[in-house]
Amino acid sequence: MAFADEITVAQLEADPYPIYARLRRESPVAWVPAANVWFVTRWQDVEFVSKNSELFAAEVPTSPVERSMGKPTILTCDGPVHDELRRGFDQKYRPRAVAEYIDDLARPIVAEYLERIALLGEIDLMAHYFEPTSSLCLARSLGFDSVDVKTLQRWFHGMAIGAANYENDPEKQAISDAASAEVEAAIIPIFERLEKHPDDSAMSRMLHDGMEPACTRARAFLLPSIKVALLGGMQEPGHGAGTVLVGLLTNPEQMKALRSDLDRLLPKAVDEGLRWVAPIGTQMRRATRDVELGGVTIPAGAPVPQSSPPHAATRRAT
Ligand code: HEM
Repeated sequence: MAFADEITVAQLEADPYPIYARLRRESPVAWVPAANVWFVTRWQDVEFVSKNSELFAAEVPTSPVERSMGKPTILTCDGPVHDELRRGFDQKYRPRAVAEYIDDLARPIVAEYLERIALLGEIDLMAHYFEPTSSLCLARSLGFDSVDVKTLQRWFHGMAIGAANYENDPEKQAISDAASAEVEAAIIPIFERLEKHPDDSAMSRMLHDGMEPACTRARAFLLPSIKVALLGGMQEPGHGAGTVLVGLLTNPEQMKALRSDLDRLLPKAVDEGLRWVAPIGTQMRRATRDVELGGVTIPAGAPVPQSSPPHAATRRAT
C-alpha cells in the first residue's frame, strides 16, 4: 500500500509535518483517499498551482469552505467576482490602510488583556491572550462592536472545523453550521443599520463602494466572504503570534537578539514563525483539465489542496 493511502485525518490533525515531509520525499503530488483530495507538498509545485488559475481554479465544488460558509466566498472564486469582493476588503485591509488605524485599534485591547493575564497566575497564552486580542481586533475592525470574546472564539473554532472538514463528517459539519447560523443572525441587523448609516468599518466598506449609501452590494453576495474573514482574520494572527512567542521562548539566544534590535528583527521573527508552523495548513484549488505535476497526472476536476511546507522550506508557501 502506498504511504498516501495510509494517511488518516486524525494523523493530519495531530501533526501534519512528518507526513508532509515523507510525501515530499516519496510522492510529492499524491492522492490522499482519507481527505478526498490530491496533496501538493513541494514549494515549487505549490507556487505553480497558486500562480496558474487557468489550470488550477479557486472554485472547488466539494470545497469544505463553500459547504460551510456559502457561495461565492472570496477564497473560492477567480476573475471579476473575486475582483469585486476584493474591492470591498481592500479599502480596510490593505497594509497601508491597516497602518493608519492598527495602533489605535490594537493597543487598548492588548493593554487590557496584558493587565488581565497579569492577575491570572498560570494561564494558557493562546486561549487567554492571543485568541482574544486577535479576535477582538478583527471583530471591531469588521464592525462587530458588541460581540464578546467567548462568542467570537466559539464562532471561529466552529467555522474552522467546517472549513477543514474535507472528509465531510456530519458531526463536524453540524458544529460548523451552528456557528455559521449564529454569525449570520448577528450580521443581518448590522447590515440593516449600515445600509442606512455607513460608517468606517470593513463591513460598511464592503456594503458600499465608498462611504455613501448610493452603491450597495447585496448582503447574500458578501456574507460568505465575511465569514471567511471572521475565521481567517480572527484565528490566523493570534495563532501565528503564539507560534512566534513559542519559538522565541524556546530559543533564548534569539529572544535576546530580538530584544536588542526589535525594529529590524521582529518582522523577521514573525515571518519565520509563520513559516515554521503555518496558521493555515492548506489552500485548495481545482484542476481545470488533466495536469501533469510532480510526475503524476491530476485529473480534470480534482480538488487539490497545497500544504504549506514548514520545517523543510526556506520560504512561506502562501
Ligand atoms: C498571520 C495572519 C494570516 C495568515 C497566515 C493568513 C493566511 C492566508 C492564506 C494562506 C490565504 C490564501 C488562501 C488561498 O489562496 O487559498 C489567505 C487569504 C485571505 N485572508 Fe488571510 N491570513 C492572515 C490574516 C488575515 C486577516 C487579519 C484577514 C482579515 C480580513 C484575512 C483575510 C483573508 C482574506 C479575505 C483572504 C482571501 C484573499 C483573496 O482570495 O483575495 N487574513 N490568508
